[in-house]
Amino acid sequence: MDFANTGLHEWLTDQCKTMGISKPTEIQVNCIPHILNDEDCIGCAKTGSGKTAAFALPILQKLSEDPYGIFALVLTPTRELAFQISEQFSVLGKPIGVRVEVIMGGLDMMEQGLGLSVKPHIVISTPGRLADHLQSCDTFSLKKIKFLVLDEADRLLEDDYGEQLETIFQALPKKRQTLLFSATMTQTIKQLQDVALNKPFFWQQNSQIATVEELKQYYVLMSADVKDAYMMHVLDLYSEAHPKSSTIIFAATCKYTQIIGMLCQELGFDCVILHSLMKQKERLAALAKFKSNQVKILVATDVASRGLDIPTVDLILNHNIPSKPKNYIHRVGRTARAGRGGTAISLVTQFDIQLVHDIEAITNAKMAEYPTHEKEVMKILTEVAVARREAEIRLDEKDFGQQKEINRRKRLIQEGKDPEVEDLKKRQLIKQKFRKHRAKMLENQAKLKRKQMKQKDNAQPSTSGSQSNKPEVKTSDKKKKKSSAK
Ligand SMILES: Nc1ncnc2c1ncn2[C@@H]1O[C@H](COP(=O)(O)OP(=O)(O)OP(=O)(O)O)[C@@H](O)[C@H]1O
Ligand SMILES: [Mg+2]
Repeated sequence: MDFANTGLHEWLTDQCKTMGISKPTEIQVNCIPHILNDEDCIGCAKTGSGKTAAFALPILQKLSEDPYGIFALVLTPTRELAFQISEQFSVLGKPIGVRVEVIMGGLDMMEQGLGLSVKPHIVISTPGRLADHLQSCDTFSLKKIKFLVLDEADRLLEDDYGEQLETIFQALPKKRQTLLFSATMTQTIKQLQDVALNKPFFWQQNSQIATVEELKQYYVLMSADVKDAYMMHVLDLYSEAHPKSSTIIFAATCKYTQIIGMLCQELGFDCVILHSLMKQKERLAALAKFKSNQVKILVATDVASRGLDIPTVDLILNHNIPSKPKNYIHRVGRTARAGRGGTAISLVTQFDIQLVHDIEAITNAKMAEYPTHEKEVMKILTEVAVARREAEIRLDEKDFGQQKEINRRKRLIQEGKDPEVEDLKKRQLIKQKFRKHRAKMLENQAKLKRKQMKQKDNAQPSTSGSQSNKPEVKTSDKKKKKSSAK
């Protein structure tokens, strides 16, 4: 199959060629003809499989046939992704002089308002800022848009964006084409069908595993108190074996991301940091430095886990295991894109074993153990611990995150809520979740134990029951010895 069979005009296929794209990917072959045929479309294909071009190309073709503004609205969950999509539209649509406007938080609202009022062809936005514009000014209208795209649709339809999406949907025409794309949508399919008003064409990539075949997936098991030392050791090992490698380290929170970034810097690994507590200009500058290969390590929160396309990235290092398996799929999808290879290494502590099992169950792919040298880790243990403590002290001195907390409390008061009561509710919710998680974990452990006992009984009826006090957690023998020694 080539692009000619998809119904795309020659100027677009020529433009693809200038970007090094000569043959369509599966999702492009399957979705583009239906989008050109005026149908709503839900497309689900693995990370790095070319979903952006699958919606951008037919939109640009339709725009060239009937150019006006605002023709299409593309929503994405993160600001960096909005920029990336805008770049792709600009490059692909250059021959027709496409005008693209990015609307997102953290940048000047007046300037964006002006940009919207001159009717750009394509608006790419994060939901929050667009909802703000719709509520605060009437210098632009979305009533005539032909296309609405939700990229990373499952993420956008999670609770966090509910109110903002409602404001946006109210401003859109009923008659429109709705296109929804993501690598992980099976759980939200009903919700997605509701967003697409007409009966949508649905296409899902057929595959045994949810991650990319070219991706090598590893874990390193260690106790929580030596995790940072193991992280530095793994970084060291990998960069020695692959001197040209580019790495994204994912961490759980903004604060951890900042600390890990400072730790890497302190220990001689040049890196940039990306999280939502940074100013937008700093965020974009950090990403630009990483993308242009000036710096080989990016330490980020999940703000970088969706959609970002940086071909040079060949290692994803998970400092924490994401609590939702689909977040793991998106994180590791930042490497091994468009047919290239890549590696993901996840640092696993005694508290994460169940999460790893959950991920393996959803992805249907097993992680292998990444070989490390415990003796080498022990040598750097003190140095890493001291560097981490120093980073924490420096952050405390800067009152890291305090402004965010002040803003949160202000917002709650403006909404007529009592911050203390809200905090209490939140703590109770966390406790409930923790209890539920713990109960599930204990149940799984008991199940596993029963299964092991049964297997043992079947295998050695005469000695059954003699060794029933072994640990329930399934790890390799070597690792069991390692952790028990510690
Ligand atoms: N037909 C094609 N042939 C080769 N490369 C392609 C093709 N289409 C797109 N690409 C390239 O593949 C890379 C990944 O594309 P894209 O970012 O659209 O993936 P995606 O499916 O949206 O991934 P994610 O789920 O992570 O957002 C990009 O660099 C893009 O230029
Ligand atoms: Mg994408």
